Amino acid sequence: MRQKIVAGNWKMNNDLWEGMKLASEVVNMAKDEVKGQVKLLLIPPFVSLKSVADLAKDSTNVFVGSQNCHEKENGAYTGEISAGMIKSVGAAYIVLGHSERRMYFNESDELLAAKTDAVLQQGLTPIFCCGEQLDIREAGTQVSHVTSQIEKSLFHLSAEDFKKVVIAYEPVWAIGTGRTASPEQAQEMHAAIRNHIASKYGNALAEEISLLYGGSCKPSNAQELFACKDVDGGLIGGASLNSRDFIDIAKSF
Ligand code: 13P
Repeated sequence: MRQKIVAGNWKMNNDLWEGMKLASEVVNMAKDEVKGQVKLLLIPPFVSLKSVADLAKDSTNVFVGSQNCHEKENGAYTGEISAGMIKSVGAAYIVLGHSERRMYFNESDELLAAKTDAVLQQGLTPIFCCGEQLDIREAGTQVSHVTSQIEKSLFHLSAEDFKKVVIAYEPVWAIGTGRTASPEQAQEMHAAIRNHIASKYGNALAEEISLLYGGSCKPSNAQELFACKDVDGGLIGGASLNSRDFIDIAKSF
């Protein structure tokens, strides 16, 4: 069965102390309230990564990831952080290609292919983000846009490596806007992504890949989104900053 995942992308929110408070609340609540087969991921800013990973160390269902990494292992890249460094503080996941990074930091499909390699080389799990802007959705070309993002950054991988990737579909028009994709829109895109993966790597492998939905996902809509056949969980922004909301989303399967 595909892994169910609910990941909280804190973005540039919470200082160390706020982050530790939120992480402790999530770890404690997850122990009592969240079913065994759901994995929760906390994705704080880099400065809190080690402290949050320490808080989640003994948890059986809460794991930690970073929001980005550099594509090189080390070297003269002032201000950057490598996948190996992220691994060394106890994180196991790295989000790549979030639309905010594509938009504000000009991350290209080619750069994201290199970052994916760097993450896999460390034995960590990439959470690869894809999604279309509103004008693309309005033009009706969203499926080819998203499958092309996946193809350009991930289709160079061997089947063995592709199996380790988690994909998050986040329509840009739904991020932080309160405007969620309908369950039909989410399911249509997730099925298209899975079919595209199957066309390259075969059905059996495509069936194993966890596909997360992101974009204004909250306790009131998580259940209908997670009920979709090809939606295996969520990548949550705003609602992950509140422990009660985040846990309630994780309980929506
Ligand atoms: P919101 O849940 O705030 O819309 O953000 C989604 C997102 O970008 C998660 O990575």
